Amino acid sequence: MRAVDVIIKKRDHGELTQEEIEFFIQGFTRGEITDYQASAWAMAVLLNGMNDRETTDLTLAITHTGDILDLSGVVPIAVDKHSTGGVGDKTTLVAEPIVAACGLAVGKMSGHGLGFSGGTLDKMEAIPGFRTNLSQAEFIEQLRSVGLVLTGQTADLAPADGKLYALRDVTGTVDSIPLIASSVMSKKIAAGAQAIVLDVKVGVGAFMQTLDEARRLSQLMVSIGLLCGRRVVALLSDMNQPLGHAVGNSLEVIEAVQTLRGSGPADFREHCLTVASHMLMLGEKAETLAEGRRMAESALKNGLAWQTFRKLVAAQGGDVSFVDDVMKFPSAPFIEMVTAQREGYLLGIHAREVGETSLDLGAGRAKKSDLIDHSVGIMIHHKVGDRVDKDKPLFTVHANSHEKLEQAKERLLAAHQWSDKPCQPLPLFYGVIGE
Ligand code: URA
Repeated sequence: MRAVDVIIKKRDHGELTQEEIEFFIQGFTRGEITDYQASAWAMAVLLNGMNDRETTDLTLAITHTGDILDLSGVVPIAVDKHSTGGVGDKTTLVAEPIVAACGLAVGKMSGHGLGFSGGTLDKMEAIPGFRTNLSQAEFIEQLRSVGLVLTGQTADLAPADGKLYALRDVTGTVDSIPLIASSVMSKKIAAGAQAIVLDVKVGVGAFMQTLDEARRLSQLMVSIGLLCGRRVVALLSDMNQPLGHAVGNSLEVIEAVQTLRGSGPADFREHCLTVASHMLMLGEKAETLAEGRRMAESALKNGLAWQTFRKLVAAQGGDVSFVDDVMKFPSAPFIEMVTAQREGYLLGIHAREVGETSLDLGAGRAKKSDLIDHSVGIMIHHKVGDRVDKDKPLFTVHANSHEKLEQAKERLLAAHQWSDKPCQPLPLFYGVIGE
């Protein structure tokens, strides 16, 4: 079999066999199939799609490029969550410590930023020293001792996803249902959690722009999970405006810390509590969603979630003094607050524009080898539906050059849409699929 024939078959709308998919993924993981061939193949998949059987085979092929953790002897039940990617989505940093603080073990394998969406690993790497490349043995040991792990793909666990993910990020091959479903579910299955809550983002700042697409992706991921013996629930959540206020790596860590310490934006707090409640129910800690909610609220209120986050940071080599005193995070050299040029109601804050602006500021990568600037980003001071007076703060840009600051200001002003009449806030969730 030759890699080029598999690429051509998909380019010409063919249905790939299980053998062809396994050949391609294994060859790519071993370095026998090159990055440029994998990029061409990913583009063919993005343009021509895959049926559910191909997507399931792709997921299993990626999963089997590494080990599959069996956590059954480590903790009674491990739970995990995964977002399909959004703007300002720092939910993991808050929801997972909440759940772990309630006594349910959380073992998570995350990704770096993808396209305009931020990545949990990039955010956590803003904390000096924090390691995101734990070995399998370290993963298991930390799950046992701390009850919370947050790592990336390693040579042991879903290595093909790590390689493919980095290519997709910079080759315009992210927003494809089969590529997203296989990327998310291969990581989840390899990391061994028995219960998985998927946060499927929908809207202009998500890879799924319509509810129909988000439902399709959710159903596919839920059924792949069930096939592999996992309990899976998918929440459809809004991504038309950024989640919370902060977009950018250290800004988001700071916002997550504030939320864990009892403040933080109301929408983000509510989102985290809902995700955590579902995790607690799916992981059998709570019998009902309402009970999960009560447990999650009290873990936030009594400070246990915050203490669990500190333990996570320390366990993975991060400098806890940075999260204890967030003023220690280096700030960007150019910081400017921009005020509203008119009065009115906010009808829209275009999440994708905000995400792309943050990427251009240096918070994400344009090429695989690009280094991230953790200090840059944006604070959006309002939510859709807010009334804002003229000259009141609208957003703040954190940039590493004057030129980038000016470009970001212009783009962000255009990303805010106004109405003279009151308008409705956006919902946080659109529904639940599975269980
Ligand atoms: N998250 C992932 O892990 N993979 C994707 O492809 C998109 C979001």
